[in-house]
Amino acid sequence: MSALTVRPGASLRGQVGVPGDKSISHRALLLGAIAGGVSRVEGFLPAADCLASLHAIQGLGIQLEPAGPTSFQIIGRGLRGLREPEDVLNCRRSGTTLRLLAGILAGQPFTSVLNGEDQLRRRPMRRIVEPLRQMGATILGRDGGRLPPLVIRGGALAGIDYSLPVASAQVKSALLLAGLYAEGPTTLHVPGPARDHTERLLGAMGCDVRYQIPGTGDPVPDTQSLELHPPARLAPLDLTIPGDFSSAAFLAVAAALVPGSEVTVTGVGLNPTRSGLLDVLRAVGARLSLTGQHLASGEPVADLTITTSQLRGTEIGGPTVVRMIDEFPMLAVAATQAEGQTVVRDAAELRVKETNRIATTVQQLRRLGAEIEAQADGFVVHGPTPLRGARVHSHGDHRLAMALAVAGLIAQGETVVDDVDCIADSFPGFVESLIRLGADLQ
Ligand code: S3P
Repeated sequence: MSALTVRPGASLRGQVGVPGDKSISHRALLLGAIAGGVSRVEGFLPAADCLASLHAIQGLGIQLEPAGPTSFQIIGRGLRGLREPEDVLNCRRSGTTLRLLAGILAGQPFTSVLNGEDQLRRRPMRRIVEPLRQMGATILGRDGGRLPPLVIRGGALAGIDYSLPVASAQVKSALLLAGLYAEGPTTLHVPGPARDHTERLLGAMGCDVRYQIPGTGDPVPDTQSLELHPPARLAPLDLTIPGDFSSAAFLAVAAALVPGSEVTVTGVGLNPTRSGLLDVLRAVGARLSLTGQHLASGEPVADLTITTSQLRGTEIGGPTVVRMIDEFPMLAVAATQAEGQTVVRDAAELRVKETNRIATTVQQLRRLGAEIEAQADGFVVHGPTPLRGARVHSHGDHRLAMALAVAGLIAQGETVVDDVDCIADSFPGFVESLIRLGADLQ
């Protein structure tokens, strides 16, 4: 397990792209596998998590034809063309792979076993197992189906009308994917604006999936109600995947914090169910602008420029939390430099991510001198505090590793981040991108 040594110093300047969106890359593979024809995918994220999805669909009999470093064709076998896997499907550390795939496998007339590494075997599965059982799938798992590995015996499913207990895009997507195989419509009520990539892609593939939006006129309603009618066939995808907003977030916040910086991150996906951090950064005084806004394969995309900024404390709760659920380790670092108090609440879901991100973020940032306290459903940061270099640990959590590396850029002296191989789970090229912008990392 390698370590990263970070020293403060030069400002960050220049223009960089980020690799493709992780959520869309997973969905491109899984949906391409069950499309009725050949899908074209460009801008795929070749990160460990997405490669787990790629190997899983290969295990289900799907072939891919490479067309470039991040592009390929998926030879879809139609909704009913997957083959029973010969072996356990190894989802590695990818919760998205395991949960979304479980939805598809619930509708297959064969048995599959889904497993992964230690980190994934600790993550909660009842949230998908319970409703998939209600739809008619037989699912066994450790601790009554609470934890992986999961054994799924799929078959005839019936649509459900289901209220999700958490605003989770993974749960919503698993149920929509199972709904493709169900008799009758599947209606879901989601208690927050969970990312909507699955719905957008299914819509582009000709599936009738509709939002029942109360007439507020708000482009991102605080809750979601949607209904899917099972299609006879899914049309293949022709997809250009935008840059991952969650990866861009590390570079953008680094530019906001490191003195004398100005960075443009090009081609960033700005789906409003994902870009809550932008709204927060604007509200706390970050100097940022968007240029070249356009739509790519139904997703909004733009170049994001951000300049060193003096930030203020703020309160974050409610639907905004859902729209920036992966950005809290980075937000916590930004908050250490903000004037005043930053309070995060309604974010208990952070406790069941790759790590318990409330506990690990608080513990590691304290080592750097931050004034941060854990709360049951969030944390409180008192700023601004000068950070001092120290030895910190990612606990195998890619987003914590990257947030700590950015913290090292503004800490006095040297910071060593241990166990950084996990960065490759979502953002291969993170270190190289920061070096290209002028940072001192080894
Ligand atoms: C994801 C959904 C989110 C997010 C994860 C990716 C997805 O998880 O944290 O990184 O691709 O659907 P939850 O659905 O558990 O909130």
